[in-house]
Amino acid sequence: MATSQDQLKQQVAQAAFDYVKDHLPAQAIIGVGTGSTVNFFIDALAELKQDIEAAVSSSEASTERLKQHGIRVVDLNSVSEVPIYVDGADEIDEHMRMVKGGGGALTREKIIAAVAKKVVCIADESKQVGRLGRFPIPVEVIPMARSYVARQIVKLGGDPVWREGFTTDNGNWILDIHNLDIVDPIHLEQQLNNIVGVVTNGLFAQRGADIAIIAGDAGIKTLK
Ligand code: A5P
Repeated sequence: MATSQDQLKQQVAQAAFDYVKDHLPAQAIIGVGTGSTVNFFIDALAELKQDIEAAVSSSEASTERLKQHGIRVVDLNSVSEVPIYVDGADEIDEHMRMVKGGGGALTREKIIAAVAKKVVCIADESKQVGRLGRFPIPVEVIPMARSYVARQIVKLGGDPVWREGFTTDNGNWILDIHNLDIVDPIHLEQQLNNIVGVVTNGLFAQRGADIAIIAGDAGIKTLK
């Protein structure tokens, strides 16, 4: 019988927990991402709370869940090193480049990924793709720049859709770009960043994952 997506998320979260247990130095800071897969990871991480110093978190939702488990959450500004950052993805390709931000936490996710020594992506195999872009690319924008940024995105060949009614933890808005043919994800990531009013985009190509732990019907595989 095929394993349900939630079971796969749970399995990959457990595998990430095992990885962290073996590789995170004692009393270190762990980076924690956002999303339904990460929620299972946070629940597992509770068992390790005596061994970690604290967590840095990529969203208010994850912060709340971590705190509910008694895991201390600290401001990234008070931290100089994050040895491991565990987060989910909406898509991941064979070069470990990702699309993230389906949950809208892309900016804080990208900041923690920039600081982290190792980015560990946890996903079920439905997230593995040959080419990025079927999942719409989220772009966080300063609210007053929404229409301008949307017009610039159209010039790049994409169809931006405003995620109406949604505000990020940073008080900004999201445009989801549909129908982009992404030949060069690093170049597109830079092009989107260059649009005035863009805070971040959900292409994690310049800084992708270092390790991907993927759960599928055949079990867990780890890619490096
Ligand atoms: C949050 O903004 C995202 O980057 C998530 O990491 C991504 O959407 C994966 O979420 P799920 O684990 O819920 O699929």
